[in-house]
Amino acid sequence: MAGLMMAPRMTLAKQAEAKDRIDALMARMTIEEKAGQLNLMNDPFRWRPEGVNPGDRLDSDQAQTAADIKAGRIGALFNGVGAATTRLVQDMAVRESRLGIPLLFAADIVHGLRTTFPVPLGESASWDLELAERTARAAAVEGGASGVHQTYAPMVDVARDQRWGRVVEGAGEDVLLNNLFAAARTKGFQGDDLTHWSSLLACPKHFAAYGAAESGMDYNSTDMSEVMLRSVYLPPFKAALDAGALSVMSAFNDLNGVPTSGNKWLLTDILHGEWGFAGFVVSDYTSEAELVAHGFAADGRDAARIALMAGVDMSMKSGLYLRHIPDLVASGEVPMARVDQAVRRVLMTKAALGLFDDPYRGSDVAVERRVVGSRDHLDLAREAGRKSIVMLKNEGGLLPLPKSGQRIALIGPFGADAADVFGPWSIFKDTDLAVSLEQGLRQALRDPNALTVVKGSDVEAPLPGGIEAAVAAANEADVVLLAIGESSVMSAESKSRVSIDIPAPQLALAEAVAATGKPVVVLLRNGRGMELSGAVAGADSILVTWFLGSETGHAIADVLFGDHEPTGRLPVSFPFRSGQSPFYYAHKATGRPSQPTDQEFTSKFREVPHAALYPFGHGLTYAPIDWSETRLSSQTMAWNGQIEASVTLTNGGDRDVTEVVQLYIRDRVASLTQPVRLLKAFRRVTVPAGKSVEVTMPLTFADVQFMGPDHTMIAEPGLFDVWLSASAQTGQAAQFTLLR
Ligand code: NOJ
Repeated sequence: MAGLMMAPRMTLAKQAEAKDRIDALMARMTIEEKAGQLNLMNDPFRWRPEGVNPGDRLDSDQAQTAADIKAGRIGALFNGVGAATTRLVQDMAVRESRLGIPLLFAADIVHGLRTTFPVPLGESASWDLELAERTARAAAVEGGASGVHQTYAPMVDVARDQRWGRVVEGAGEDVLLNNLFAAARTKGFQGDDLTHWSSLLACPKHFAAYGAAESGMDYNSTDMSEVMLRSVYLPPFKAALDAGALSVMSAFNDLNGVPTSGNKWLLTDILHGEWGFAGFVVSDYTSEAELVAHGFAADGRDAARIALMAGVDMSMKSGLYLRHIPDLVASGEVPMARVDQAVRRVLMTKAALGLFDDPYRGSDVAVERRVVGSRDHLDLAREAGRKSIVMLKNEGGLLPLPKSGQRIALIGPFGADAADVFGPWSIFKDTDLAVSLEQGLRQALRDPNALTVVKGSDVEAPLPGGIEAAVAAANEADVVLLAIGESSVMSAESKSRVSIDIPAPQLALAEAVAATGKPVVVLLRNGRGMELSGAVAGADSILVTWFLGSETGHAIADVLFGDHEPTGRLPVSFPFRSGQSPFYYAHKATGRPSQPTDQEFTSKFREVPHAALYPFGHGLTYAPIDWSETRLSSQTMAWNGQIEASVTLTNGGDRDVTEVVQLYIRDRVASLTQPVRLLKAFRRVTVPAGKSVEVTMPLTFADVQFMGPDHTMIAEPGLFDVWLSASAQTGQAAQFTLLR
């Protein structure tokens, strides 16, 4: 039946019951109450977990919101948490509004609530889907216990331009990684039973192609072929929906001339028509109102009409739906059937969450106290933290460091810092739970006093006397840890950068420290792929440590001192220079492919190779691993057939290590040109010290298909390259021919 969603895991009997209940409710609703269900506003009561208490005097914002809730003018609130106040706020809707429809509480629980896990990009460097599912589950447990029902996550925007500030929120530049993390995180948030207090409705965002913003500038327009859209930017959304996501957030950007929050083709034809999406679409913060600024709607009323008719069911923050829907329906510009469809989608989602049976689900202060910031969650944050670290370089086997017998200078703006470890989108973090790098290192060292900490520079400004102090500390030390990079305000929404380098004052600090001649380990803090140059690129060892969250210091110490080996792999390329942006490994060949030799009139910049300094997929371990050439079980693949690819890894060291074997292909000749390499699968393998391991992975007919010109997946016979390699830039290809 039109508009009725089939909530996953709801029994047929439950669905029928919910439908009857909603039919009965809708028959009684006024148009104003219907518009109210589609109106989402900031939660002014529970902005902090302590929230307001019964008997508190409400401020004017709270009083207005309370009046709106009681009058049925608000159906959902976002970005408030706290079990204690849920009852108070939900009571306003359930007991004091005419129809008693429960509110939906939403929040940006992106990488944890009070316990903060690594930023999504960092966690994606683990290439560990089971880990991502567990951290999403833990975040959902904390969110659910704090009276939240929906999270605005996962962010599944493929991000190929590292200048874009929001690269940090997703799984990076690759389609497959984004698909897999989208599904894992959705499953983790939603759990097995959506009615359980610990399950959060997932909301993949931002639909769609928001990550393709021109020049990486946030909110900028996107313009691309439908083949590109369907092969790169849409698949992660489909993956999240296939994993059960019941809500989607529309985006801010213009797509091929039609802003996404007013894009019927995207929000209705593809989402519901092609994909059979059963949930509701919420706009991004005022994105439907922004149709006016885009030059796509004449005024707020026009914007509300366009967005609603395009398929935006719930309006975030602007209030335009509440204000204009009654009149738009009265004038006949919006059919009542469309309003009913949107309301039904929202109410069915509330039913799927069990809110009609228990509007207070999750509002239990005792449970909240027990699970939020629990030891288990902090242990998980530490595990996720160390698994997110990527070792780019380790000259002379400098790492791991011994825990005693060396004097260490920890230099840089992030050494002692405990405020910036969380990264962006950690609005509910518990700052008391932060473990700074300094704390983590001191706890790990046999003699905590073997560590000297000097700031040396602020993040973006020099510190008077900073370099002198840093050089003095370096001179006294046996090894220098340089904690440099970006702060969270440099890598977030609206924080796009013209240049993805380390700020000049920190580079100056790095040069001065390097001039002491002491061995240097760079501990990079970052939310994107970066340009590493000068003394930073020249350091002996480099660990990419992203923003690792609550357990930052412990997680880095675990890897630095070798209690755990580094297992992360880059989910984004680190180009040689900023000016290569957007640089991504799965680019096309062009008609003048660049050559390893410095040949003129080929596709490259004058100054650097058309390659990454540290490619997608790269990451070292604490043992030298030798990779054999890729072997194939057959030089031909039958139509609809399958072959096997194998590689032998040999561990020449004295530690067992984990490798990530990456399977890439290239379709040599196709009717639409294909990327020079494309990840199709990967596998984590343990390679015991001194041993060889043979890894065999299937390559299927599905793997050799691509998005054809008619927008369906097709295969074409011919020659393919296959790599089983350690990154997108290493290995020798084997070849096979696909036969028809
Ligand atoms: C705007 C951001 O684009 C989106 O990701 C977020 O969920 C909303 N604001 C709500 O905070």
